[in-house]
Amino acid sequence: MSTEIISRVKEYLGEDFPVRLISQGAEALVFETNQHPFNPEVKTEEFIIKYRPFKNYRHPQIDKTLTKKRTVAECRCLVKLNNMKGINVPHLVASDPYNGYIWQTKIGEQLPNGTFSSLKNFLWLHNNDKDAYLSTVEEVLIKVGKQIGILHNNQYIHGDLTSSNIVLQRDANTGIWDAYLIDFGLSGYSTMVEDKGVDLYVLERAIMSTHSLYADKYNEWIMQGYKESFDNQDNLKQVLKRFEEVRQRGRKRSMLG
Ligand SMILES: Nc1ncnc2c1ncn2[C@@H]1O[C@H](COP(=O)(O)OP(=O)(O)O)[C@@H](O)[C@H]1O
Ligand SMILES: [Mg+2]
Repeated sequence: MSTEIISRVKEYLGEDFPVRLISQGAEALVFETNQHPFNPEVKTEEFIIKYRPFKNYRHPQIDKTLTKKRTVAECRCLVKLNNMKGINVPHLVASDPYNGYIWQTKIGEQLPNGTFSSLKNFLWLHNNDKDAYLSTVEEVLIKVGKQIGILHNNQYIHGDLTSSNIVLQRDANTGIWDAYLIDFGLSGYSTMVEDKGVDLYVLERAIMSTHSLYADKYNEWIMQGYKESFDNQDNLKQVLKRFEEVRQRGRKRSMLG
């Protein structure tokens, strides 16, 4: 199936368009390329092409409508976040919602062990007693919390906060790691504390399941950054209260099995 999809992508982009498949999720295939979608003069950047393929288990017309709707929603969110102060996200470069394509700038780099600089790989790289409590790890996680706090302060929720949807990139001038959020397929505007509490809970669980050894400390640092990004302490209190309620519900559910 995937070779068929890849040949469809090649046909769409042109045989000579250089692409490399880097991820295959439930909804989308993600490619990287060093070629701009319509300006061959741009040679300095790398781009990500996210493609939502046709699902043959859905009725073709429903499928077309859904693909278009989800692609537009993700682009809209990216554009909104591209203009939001203090938020680090990829830039939207181009989109073809009718065919399910989004081009965006590529975030991240290679870690010393050769893996991609997602938060997940970064934490795995430091997954030992000597490195886990380094100030670089602490500073990165505080920055991650700040990004989520700024997002929530602007009434946006991410919807799928995992350590793969957070990518680290070093600042070109200082060489210090910055945290970026990616993958806005399930994101959107929300003023509800419930949605924010769930966002925090999803990330807490993700950290606990993939980085269990040091998860308590990691989550504490994330929440430190999150709290620091709120100016309005009443709003913060409400979110934290709801976060605790979401957590309790989760615990009850896992006890019932
Ligand atoms: N802008 C980007 N920069 C760098 N890598 C990206 C970017 N967008 C996606 N990726 C890579 O592709 C993977 C899948 O993309 P994502 O948008 O998260 O789709 P999915 O919905 O399949 O999770 C990410 O986990 C990341 O490794
Ligand atoms: Mg993802």
